[in-house]
Amino acid sequence: SMGKDEVLRGKLVCLRDIPLYKSFVEGWPQVEAFQARHDDLLIATYPKSGTTWLSEILDAIYNDGNVEKCRRDAIYNRVPFLEFNAPAIPSGVELLEKTPSPRLVKTHLPVHLLPASFQEKDCKVIYMARNAKDVVVSYYYFYQMAKIHPDPGTLSEFLQAFMDGKVPVASIPTPASPQDPRREVQKILQFLGKEVAEERVAKILHHTSFQEMKKNPTANYETMPTALMDHSLSPFMRKGISGDWKNHFTVAQNEHFDHHYQQHMAGSDLCFQMEA
Ligand code: A3P
Repeated sequence: SMGKDEVLRGKLVCLRDIPLYKSFVEGWPQVEAFQARHDDLLIATYPKSGTTWLSEILDAIYNDGNVEKCRRDAIYNRVPFLEFNAPAIPSGVELLEKTPSPRLVKTHLPVHLLPASFQEKDCKVIYMARNAKDVVVSYYYFYQMAKIHPDPGTLSEFLQAFMDGKVPVASIPTPASPQDPRREVQKILQFLGKEVAEERVAKILHHTSFQEMKKNPTANYETMPTALMDHSLSPFMRKGISGDWKNHFTVAQNEHFDHHYQQHMAGSDLCFQMEA
């Protein structure tokens, strides 16, 4: 198995048709054989789409709005990352096997690579997406601080790699980030068939606000080893807004991106809000 040095700034490798971290591919047999349980809830997103935010909301809902209980452990232990595998840290599958039901499971895998058992057990899935321009900017900063990634180069180079499908997990994200968190939480409660009292919902909304999560060590990834995530390069809880791409894209980059996006998304009726 791999040492830490091989993971840091290592080259991506291909798993079927998607670029992925070498250590994740090494752990793939365990992921493929993963046994879902009927009451697992899968949180599926493209990276940098607000996965941690949605995970914190769901853990708070699963604890009936007793948000203090969400501080019991780091978010990556409360909501294990299915395909995660790196030296010296428990893999997602290892964590999940030890997690009592009902489990929350995070994944960035495209649907065709999901372990078959999720479908066999008819598990519920919440898929969330964010506009691609803010995703790519967020991802650029994440590449810098999370050293499992290769060096991102310049923003211009990174944009091209993103458009070429050369970043995990390749394709541009599809369906919308919670624009109105209260409405989105109500939708989730309805989907789960769960009732949470109004004042508890207010607590959940406060607990999962950007400002609160940014200072919460069980939500902000600051408990990860610095060798893997260096928050001094860019904090995980970076800005938490829509439209930051405007501070980064040149006019030419924006036109190029729009052109690529229109080709890529032709035929899709998905519509994203591109700014607040
Ligand atoms: P930015 O880099 O644009 O700030 P993921 O969890 O999928 O990796 O996504 C990380 C992105 O979600 C980061 O975006 C992060 O700041 C943002 N985020 C996390 N928690 C948030 C919250 N409670 N409210 C708004 N944005 C949040």
